[in-house]
Amino acid sequence: MAAAPPLTRSDSARGEFSPLKHFVVAKKTISDVFEQLLNYVKETSDFVEETCGNKALENIASQDQKLEIQSYADKLAVIKEVLARRHMKVAFFGRTSNGKSTVVNAMLRDRVLPSGIGHTTNCFLSVEGTDEDKAYLKTEGSDEEKSIKTVNQLAHALHMDESLDAGCLVRVFWPKTKCALLRDDLVLVDSPGTDVTSQLDSWIDKFCLDADVFVLVANSESTLMNTEKHFFHKVNERLSKPNIFILNNRWDASANEPEYMEDVRKQHTDRCVNFLVEELKVVDRDQAPNRIFFVSAKEVLNSRMQRAQGMPETGGALAEGFQERLKEFQCFERRFEECISQSAVKTKFEQHTIRAKQITEKVKSIMDAINIEAAEKRVAALEDREYQMDRLEFVKNQLNLLIDDIKKKIKSISEDVSSAMEEEICRLHVIVDEFHSDFHPSHHVLKIYKSELLSHVEEGMGKNLAYRCSDAVFASVQSSQKYMIGNSMLPLLPSTVQSQVHMLVPSRKFDLSYDLNCATLCNDFQENIEFQFSLGWTSLVHRFLGSVNAQRADEFPSFRCPFCFKFQTQRMQNMPLLVRVLTQLLFMHLFFKVYRAVGWRLIALSASLYGLLYLYERLTWTTKAKERSLKRQFVDYATEKLQLIISFTSANCSHQVQQEMATTFARLCQQVDQTQKELEAEIRQLTAKIDQLETVQSESKSLRHKATALEKQLEAFTNQYLQHQQ
Ligand code: GTP
Ligand code: MG
Repeated sequence: MAAAPPLTRSDSARGEFSPLKHFVVAKKTISDVFEQLLNYVKETSDFVEETCGNKALENIASQDQKLEIQSYADKLAVIKEVLARRHMKVAFFGRTSNGKSTVVNAMLRDRVLPSGIGHTTNCFLSVEGTDEDKAYLKTEGSDEEKSIKTVNQLAHALHMDESLDAGCLVRVFWPKTKCALLRDDLVLVDSPGTDVTSQLDSWIDKFCLDADVFVLVANSESTLMNTEKHFFHKVNERLSKPNIFILNNRWDASANEPEYMEDVRKQHTDRCVNFLVEELKVVDRDQAPNRIFFVSAKEVLNSRMQRAQGMPETGGALAEGFQERLKEFQCFERRFEECISQSAVKTKFEQHTIRAKQITEKVKSIMDAINIEAAEKRVAALEDREYQMDRLEFVKNQLNLLIDDIKKKIKSISEDVSSAMEEEICRLHVIVDEFHSDFHPSHHVLKIYKSELLSHVEEGMGKNLAYRCSDAVFASVQSSQKYMIGNSMLPLLPSTVQSQVHMLVPSRKFDLSYDLNCATLCNDFQENIEFQFSLGWTSLVHRFLGSVNAQRADEFPSFRCPFCFKFQTQRMQNMPLLVRVLTQLLFMHLFFKVYRAVGWRLIALSASLYGLLYLYERLTWTTKAKERSLKRQFVDYATEKLQLIISFTSANCSHQVQQEMATTFARLCQQVDQTQKELEAEIRQLTAKIDQLETVQSESKSLRHKATALEKQLEAFTNQYLQHQQ
């Protein structure tokens, strides 16, 4: 017995609790996910496009990735559209007059489709819900909405349209407000009798491939016919395990022969089970009775219509056992709704869910690739920046080192000049001795002589210094300049500058100018070529006490020769009278002491020797001697003066060297400055690039997380709707 457990739910209580809601909710859920997915892929596409278009972020996202994601966005948009149109589809087949149209009407609780004795339905008719208030139909190949008011009108319209044949489809749009079943995305397809066509294959291609459930409306007054079986065999060949229900209609006729009812029912059931399990192999034997029902569509339709009109259901004209048949019809409806919603969810959404998962996976992997690429590039950029910063630091340090080095070199040149000058000063007498010119003690000749001597000394010392220093200084300057642009700085400079760097060194020879300016320096030189007796008081004092003490001694009259009255008198005139008298008495006393000690002979001998020596010296005090004396005095004087200007001259020389190197140094600094600026610009660029890469990294990461969240939603959908299927 195929009768299902009685339903407690009232016939009219479908709606919110309908199993069809399973499909409706699943459709909404998956549509929401696809909506999010599409937005996500669009966002990703924008991100990849932006990354692709950014010149600074070269090769992080490829053109292929961009196109790939765009193609996913296109695919998702199409799928989203397809999903929105997805509905559950049940198709009714069976021989003519078995009551297919009546079953559809019974389910719709209204006489929507024409039915009647004989061959009524001459083409495929689909019934779907519309949000509009009025029913209308659309014929194949036309978007025209043809209004229909009554079933007869529809029947008339269908019969009048000669272009319609058994393979055509007419879509009937029935207001959802009139029929709860149509609110849940269900489309019912009525067909002409399977016995009236030879185009079964084209029917299957056209109407059956997207059907979720097939209902074979059989006639319980006869047995399953080969034409019906043949059709389902063909369907079974094209579809894998189609959901097939068998309605043994017109079961009200069994009420006329109640004694045979059980036997007939069993006979039909066995044949139907055999057909589904053995022949078609679409259902297990234990499940097969749930697919076979004995109903009377006509009764159900009538009772439902009467009820809708507020009349008693049973109406008096109903045969025996109506309630059971009604319950069985309701049971069929329930099983059918459960089956079609489960099946439709799987067939309509499973592939799309899998595709969505694949797309999400692909997009995620692209985000991963971009993230990895950005991370690698960021690390490289960080290293590069570090290197450039080190270079910048090194350039700065190197320049400081170079400055110190040059300072040292200049100092050493200055020291060289100083020591050369000291040596030359020591050898000044040679230059002076080399000087020959007319000499005469007369004031006029002496003046010319001295000026010529000065220029001779100036020239001679200049030459000597130049001979000693110039080459060394030039070599030193050259080497410093080469050093500047050589090892220390060259590698730091930009390659364009490196090739032209030799231009920084001036090609001309550098000469130091010593500029001793002897004329001004020795302007005050005052020679003393008066005769000076070597044993004279002044000479002796000079000899024993040095010139400074001698001067002091000169100023003290008590140490002077008592016989030099000329001086004495002069000096003494400035002294007080008592001191003068006492001093002269002291000298007289001393003279008498010596006279008493040695005797007058020895004094006379000494005086004569002293006089002879004086005479000799007086006679040899010639012009030559005077010239020699002058030269000697000049050497002493000039030596003293030149000693004073050693530091000044060496400073002057170092200044010249500094000046000479300054040009090269300035040019070098300019290049270094340019290099520094370039490095700083490069560092700034790298910093900006690092920032951009960080943004790309974080964005790709966040997009990846979004993909994971969407994957979770898809997984949840799979678990909830696609795996736990009955
Ligand atoms: P075609 O459209 O010609 O293929 O036929 P159909 O399968 O659509 O049958 P239709 O619904 O037009 O019904 C044919 C006739 O059978 C109608 O007069 C119905 O009233 C009648 N009929 C349908 N179902 C039942 C039923 O359960 N019991 C009885 N007694 N008559 C029925
Ligand atoms: Mg019909």
